[in-house]
This record gives sequence, structure tokens and C-alpha cells, in this order.
Amino acid sequence: METETEKLNAAKKAITHIENGMVVGLGSGSTSSLMIMLLGELVADGLQINGVASSLKSEQLASKLGIPLLPLNQTTTIDINIDGADEFTEELQLIKGGGGALLREKILAHYSDLNIIITDSSKKSERLGGYPLPLEVIPFAEQKIIKELKDMGLASNLRMEEGKVYRTDQENSILDLDVSNWDDIEALENLLQAMPGIVETGLFLNSTDLVIMGMGNQTFEFK
Ligand code: 5RP
Repeated sequence: METETEKLNAAKKAITHIENGMVVGLGSGSTSSLMIMLLGELVADGLQINGVASSLKSEQLASKLGIPLLPLNQTTTIDINIDGADEFTEELQLIKGGGGALLREKILAHYSDLNIIITDSSKKSERLGGYPLPLEVIPFAEQKIIKELKDMGLASNLRMEEGKVYRTDQENSILDLDVSNWDDIEALENLLQAMPGIVETGLFLNSTDLVIMGMGNQTFEFK
């Protein structure tokens, strides 16, 4: 219950940054869904914005709430992007992708002028790796990638859902990688980005401008 309040308070604070006429990136996950619901209320009250959704789930929710949506390719700029995270540090480095939307989320973060992350207090960490790192991979190569990672000392699990291999919005697979013993996270990102078949990683190392974290009844900002 407290976690829900923390998520809601962070979402409420984040939407104060949204102004009339803006193009807004809509993140994915439970915290982002709360933000989208609040935004839906503002739109119903007359706020004029366009959203760009980072997942089919967020797109469906925003459409249901009457939030006008644009395809990314039809935008000139995204003024502000508001998304959640699975883990963050005070250095504004993140692990994302617990909900499987990391690829589009990373693309939106890249093309946005201002990136705000909203979380509850359980997401704050001294160093990344407490949460398994999601990798979006091409199904054609998933077993090869699992083996190569294992040879590098990195254990990974192919994500499953209801007894079937989980599929992203792009019909790719997700490997959840244990990076808890890996010290140099930037070096790891470079290694993973160089491996054919890995489409994207859930490491967001240099894209975040502001983290708003709910804690109890308060919010804290990291920038
Ligand atoms: C989805 C994500 C989410 O932002 C992340 O999983 C956080 O989700 P939640 O707000 O439900 O804790 O990266 O791919």
C-alpha cells in the first residue's frame, strides 16, 4: 500500500513539469500507468498535449483515457519523457525493462529533451545489479547468447510468461542477466552492445535528468 502511495506521489510531482502544447513520452509499468491516469484527468480538464507511447500497454491505456497519441516518427521533438525504473543510483544510472518495454523506452529517452524517472523508494540502490539486467534479444540467437554470456561468467534466464517464452512488443525475447558481481557497468554495457543478436540492454547510464522518488508521504529528487 505504501509503495502505491510512493509511486502516486512521484507521478503527481512529475506531471507538474508538463505544459500545454508539449509532446510527452509515456513510459511503461505500474508507476508510469499511474502517471498516464493522472495525465488523462488533466487532458479531460482541457490540457492539450500529445503522447508518444513506449509500449502497446501504455498506448492502450492512454487511448482509453482520451490522450491524443502520435507515432514517434511524426514528432519533431519530445519535450518531456516520464518513465519508471527497476533500480537507480544517485548517479542517475538505471536498470529498466522489468516490464519488457526497454527497447522503446530507451529510444524515447534518447529522443527526449527532458527525462524524468518516477519510482517508489525500493528502487534506490548504492550500485546497480541488485535487479537482474533485462536484455532484449533476437529469438534466432537466444541460446547462443545465453551460452556466450555464461562463458563470460554471466548467468542469464530466458524470461517466461504463463509457461511460454515471453515476447516483447517487437516479438523478441528477454534474457534476465545476473550482473550483481560485475563491477564496471559501463564496460559491461559496451560488451553487451557489441554482441550480435542483443537488440538492446536495460542499462540507462547517461539519459536521465531527474529521478523523483516517493518515500513515505514525501518525494525526493535526484539530479
Ligand atoms: C518497463 C520498465 C518499468 O519502468 C520498470 O519495470 C518499473 O516498473 P514499475 O513502475 O511497475 O515498478 O522499465 O520495461
